[in-house]
Amino acid sequence: MNKILLLTLLCAVILLHACTNDRLSDPLDEKLRKVLNQTSPTGDYTHYILPESADLAAIPQDPLNELSQGKIELGKMLFFETGIALDPAYEFSREFYSCASCHIPSKGFMPGRVQGIADGGIGFGDAGEMRDRTILYQENELDVQGARPLSLVNVAYTTNTSWNGMFGGNDANAGTEALWDAIPGLEVNELGYSGLESQNIEGLHLHRMVVNPEVIDSLGYREIYDNCFPYTEENERYSDITTSLAISAYLRSLIANEAPFQKWLKGDELAMNDAEKRGAQLFFGKAGCFRCHNTAALNKDDDFYALGVKDLYETGEAFATGPDDQRNFGRGFFTKRDEDMFKFKVPQLYNVAESTHFFHGSSKRTMREVVEYFNEGVPENSRVPAENIAPQLHPLNLTEQEVDDLTLFLEKSLVDENIERYVPESVLSGNCFPNNDPASRVAIGCE
Ligand code: HEC
Ligand code: HEC
Repeated sequence: MNKILLLTLLCAVILLHACTNDRLSDPLDEKLRKVLNQTSPTGDYTHYILPESADLAAIPQDPLNELSQGKIELGKMLFFETGIALDPAYEFSREFYSCASCHIPSKGFMPGRVQGIADGGIGFGDAGEMRDRTILYQENELDVQGARPLSLVNVAYTTNTSWNGMFGGNDANAGTEALWDAIPGLEVNELGYSGLESQNIEGLHLHRMVVNPEVIDSLGYREIYDNCFPYTEENERYSDITTSLAISAYLRSLIANEAPFQKWLKGDELAMNDAEKRGAQLFFGKAGCFRCHNTAALNKDDDFYALGVKDLYETGEAFATGPDDQRNFGRGFFTKRDEDMFKFKVPQLYNVAESTHFFHGSSKRTMREVVEYFNEGVPENSRVPAENIAPQLHPLNLTEQEVDDLTLFLEKSLVDENIERYVPESVLSGNCFPNNDPASRVAIGCE
């Protein structure tokens, strides 16, 4: 008898405690935490918390490129350094462009237009929207690619980089060795670095940049390289590889840990309003977005999907691409397998709303259009075979209000407004950045 009484009392105490907790916290917050616990691969909402910037050990990294503050600071300058733009198609374009010509911080590290243009581009506008081809370059002489540049925010969470994931020999690319010789530049996978570190070695060539001891000396970076890479042989210390390691370290540090959703996850329940919380609830619930976007960065690093969106050439505004461009095949371009055709990586979603163009082919111009596309669930690109389209693309039956709330979550809760903290004050060349051509210099305020 006594035992039962004790048990009843215990239950009452537990229940009462649960009730008071409920009353303390807004039911919306409780509901959201609950759904996050359910969707989290670890069973706990803390899975979605991004690391603090000072906690370098917590940031995903390449064992061959251990993060250090020194490398991050060096990479922070090199990424914007127009002084290494030394191999343009025409001499007059020397020192006109940088990595950030196509990855503009205030645009979620995207170009602010339909396609990125580095060498051969001119102008900037407020943030990339006025950049265009200089008439002195033929279309095929431009540095442009067949898809919209990817965001680099939270890129530490991407194991195999580029839209088709072809960079990096490990993770999703384990067993693909036989394919590396077929694609120019992909031999870099043989070096054994992670996707990011590998891609950025090749990226320096592709984007017509030059790093060697003479360049390093003329710009004044030698001492910083010496401090960052003391154990690298001197004849290898001022190279594409060390430069990639520094730039990659910097890119890994681009963590959107001040976004409202991040603040909410860390306990600040006022960081999001009710509509945003309802939007989050939809993302991780009824709308099913979490089925693919489910790491802390809200990407997916081990699978590729066809959403059947249009390709870049279909905007009518892109250079040097077209219906026959094999880069439109996505993962299939790399693996040549039928089942991979038209499949692309699941990109991360922080600060993506700051872009002006969405999806690999820049086919959408607002975040609301993106959400409507998922809600309608009908492929817009008729060349993608139906059997390759992701089965998750189907009508979601969201109401107008729900579309609004989900859009708001993407546009507000996932935007770290303080991303400028990752932009350097200046680069050692003293050049203008991200671009240094005459029109950009005026637009950026360097003249
Ligand atoms: C001419 C425009 C342009 C320039 C300049 C440029 N990029 Fe990119 N970047 C792109 C495009 C386009 C993509 C997507 C390419 C693809 O997947 O087909 C991309 C993708 C990336 C990715 C992959 C991200 C991911 O999630 O997979 C990384 C990393 C990257 N760029 C780093 C750099 C670095 C470092 C530099 C300077 C060395 C640079 N980029 C210069 C256009 C550019
Ligand atoms: C089947 C997996 C899958 C699901 C489910 C999914 N996504 Fe995606 N998402 C992707 C892929 C793959 C891409 C890139 C597609 C492309 O550009 O070809 C993408 C792209 C995006 C982009 C554009 C990113 C950029 O860089 O332009 C946004 C925004 C986005 N998704 C949000 C959502 C939202 C919101 C939902 C839920 C309504 C959702 N996704 C559901 C796989 C998915």
